[in-house]
Amino acid sequence: MSSIHTVTVETALSTYPIRIGSGLRSELEKQLEELVASGAKLAALVDAGVQPSIKEVLGNLLDDIPTMTIPSGEKSKSLSQYEEVLDFLAAQRLDRGGILLAIGGGVVGDLGGFAAASYMRGIRFIQIPTTVLAMVDSSIGGKTGVNIDAGKNLVGAFHQPIAVYADIEFLHTLSEREFVSGLAEIIKHGMLADRALFDKLLDQPITSSRDDCLAEIIKWNCEIKAAVVKADEKELAGSGGRALLNLGHTFGHAIENVAGYGDYLHGEAIGIGLAAASRLSEKLGFIAKDDVDLSIQAVSGLGLPTHLKEPLSIDALYTAMTRDKKVKSGVIRFVVMKEIGRAGTIESADADLVREIWRSVGAVD
Ligand code: GLY
Repeated sequence: MSSIHTVTVETALSTYPIRIGSGLRSELEKQLEELVASGAKLAALVDAGVQPSIKEVLGNLLDDIPTMTIPSGEKSKSLSQYEEVLDFLAAQRLDRGGILLAIGGGVVGDLGGFAAASYMRGIRFIQIPTTVLAMVDSSIGGKTGVNIDAGKNLVGAFHQPIAVYADIEFLHTLSEREFVSGLAEIIKHGMLADRALFDKLLDQPITSSRDDCLAEIIKWNCEIKAAVVKADEKELAGSGGRALLNLGHTFGHAIENVAGYGDYLHGEAIGIGLAAASRLSEKLGFIAKDDVDLSIQAVSGLGLPTHLKEPLSIDALYTAMTRDKKVKSGVIRFVVMKEIGRAGTIESADADLVREIWRSVGAVD
């Protein structure tokens, strides 16, 4: 049996473990039994796409836990779905000692986390991420929330889980496209924080959820994320800090927004965003052309796109960028690589240069 790893997340108010490996069911079961024995009432949210695999991965674990199924997709990160979750928790009579399990990808983690942050002014929750993105990024660090018409994640709270269980067996149930999409956050971590991780992925790209080194790579990424969160939990650093995790996202979010959510999976848009961010880093004089080529090679080596499938309008993409919640006083804040493995934030970039970068990934005037 493969080994199980632990990464500890430390924040101002809490410290919690991320357990990573194949077959975490019995360990999770034990923790839940202890919590129930101490008087906690449990409830669970499960992504509809994960529901058919629950027995395969978690056995009968949910049989006695009231469970609400959440429709898959970004649309579920809405105020109306949030209200339904709160009604569900109230109907199950969870009190302030209650514990919510959020089983799914980033959508269920963010939605469930926000419900846990606000129901009864805050109850405990456990993240059980089922996608690569959720395992290495969204389940760690306590960002929770929902979308409103004005933008993504505009309503939310910082609320840390009490534990994260990243069971690799869930990854075997994903389609190849979904699996590959999550790898964008992994190569992003290498590009922004760890040259050794970048080189490893460049030399030996992950090709399947059954790769021997996958649990180790996920652990490595959780360590990177945990270190960033520890240093700047609430993204308040004047420069750098947690905002660095947005490398490629200013471009990527604009692609998702203009193409329409669903046309590109999140990681596919981020793959193109990472290619764009490397070109911007080069044009601003931080990295060499060879580094851009290596970055694009590393992203595409994982099976991710680095160029738009169909041309999108630069005007529309630029407007979408200015609507991002990271924009302060009309200034778009970009994350650039100072070198591969070290990123920084810049407060603005010349509009013509940004348009040129968009052109380089296939956008049109
Ligand atoms: N996913 C970005 C962050 O956690 O800050």
